[in-house]
Amino acid sequence: MKSIDLRKKFFDFFIKRKHSQVPSSSLIPAQDPTLLFANAGMNQFKDVFLGKEKRSYSRAVSIQKCVRAGGKHNDLDNVGFTSRHLTFFEMTGNFSFGDYFKKDAIEFAWEFLTNELKLDKEKLHATVFESDDEAYDIWKDIVKLPESRIHRMGAADNFWQMGDTGPCGPCSEILLDRGEKYGEASPENGERFLEIWNLVFMQFDRQKDGNDMPLDKTGVDTGMGLERVCSIVQNAESVYETDLFMPIIKKIEEVSGLSYDQNEKTKAAFRVLADHTRSTSLIIADGCSPSNEGRGYVLRKIIRRAALFAQKLTDKNIFPELAKVFIGYMSTIYPELKTNEKLILSLLNSEIEKFAANLVRGQAILDRFFEENKSDKIISGQQAFKLYDTYGFPTELTQLIAQEHGCSVDMAGLEKEMEKQKKQSKKKVDAKE
Ligand code: ALA
Repeated sequence: MKSIDLRKKFFDFFIKRKHSQVPSSSLIPAQDPTLLFANAGMNQFKDVFLGKEKRSYSRAVSIQKCVRAGGKHNDLDNVGFTSRHLTFFEMTGNFSFGDYFKKDAIEFAWEFLTNELKLDKEKLHATVFESDDEAYDIWKDIVKLPESRIHRMGAADNFWQMGDTGPCGPCSEILLDRGEKYGEASPENGERFLEIWNLVFMQFDRQKDGNDMPLDKTGVDTGMGLERVCSIVQNAESVYETDLFMPIIKKIEEVSGLSYDQNEKTKAAFRVLADHTRSTSLIIADGCSPSNEGRGYVLRKIIRRAALFAQKLTDKNIFPELAKVFIGYMSTIYPELKTNEKLILSLLNSEIEKFAANLVRGQAILDRFFEENKSDKIISGQQAFKLYDTYGFPTELTQLIAQEHGCSVDMAGLEKEMEKQKKQSKKKVDAKE
């Protein structure tokens, strides 16, 4: 099944069950200072859950553009090293605002996965929040899932919150057991037990002091990664071998002359480039430019990370070319890509060009540091700061390269250097005033 057919199937299923189709919001949250980028389908409904905003519908369905590369939900460091983490992904979701609750949410999800997508029931597991007997019993008594496949989990896995404050509640996840090949049979092993769908039962509004105030009306917020489901229905080894990524992967093969399957290191670089092409193009299309703070800095970090990995494959600046391919096949879904094509290509091109010389120089300096620190294998705070301040290396980049050399970075030391710099620049500003 192609991704385009999956999109349609998902919408049709919920529209048939009286859900209003709502378009994805921009990746740049409209008026929410608590959020860097849209990171879940429920973001645009935050105030509806809180009872502060009314809509003409009480059931909704959407496929939301999401970026998880900074803030509370950040997967940037994992991208390239697992089969499932992405900085940009699309979240298919259905929502209830004071309408249905746990029973319907669980039954809808089960029906969609087993009847529409025809996933093997025997391979599906469910998790519930440790004290949520209601959800447990629905899985056991109504869905008739054997108890050996229902797992109670703690708050870290099964209590969902959008940010430090705002709507939140216990959740129930549906996992697919991908088999022995992927290691130990434990719901904590995310490579084997692939999380497909998260059903959140919205019940509270978390306050600044950490207290959970009950909401007037409970709701349902669900999220299923389109890329993951695609990988399942397309029998792909990972999200990267689906039609949502393959045109970029093929283009990298073409321009680098290397093969995706060559070895694990090459594969990781291909994956990073494919993922970062998608996220950076869409972030720019939604109006964000690289800068030294906030969202713009997250974007810059992703582009610089892409530059590091691109350099493992070729000397050419291939990133804009990859974006062109992506814009070509994804504009039917997100026309803003086409509208902003020139801007996307020129920003990506100039960012990479600007960073290229510093990337080479910074790496040479790092090599010297690795040599100097051979005995303790730690890059000091001062050294990491020099890379950040003089060569524009985001901390994560220094950490990544250090890791590749079996070294770590003294983060506390780096923090101190950052603080020192802040104080000095404040002094300078004060002296001027
Ligand atoms: N908001 C929930 C999540 O992002 C569905 O997992």
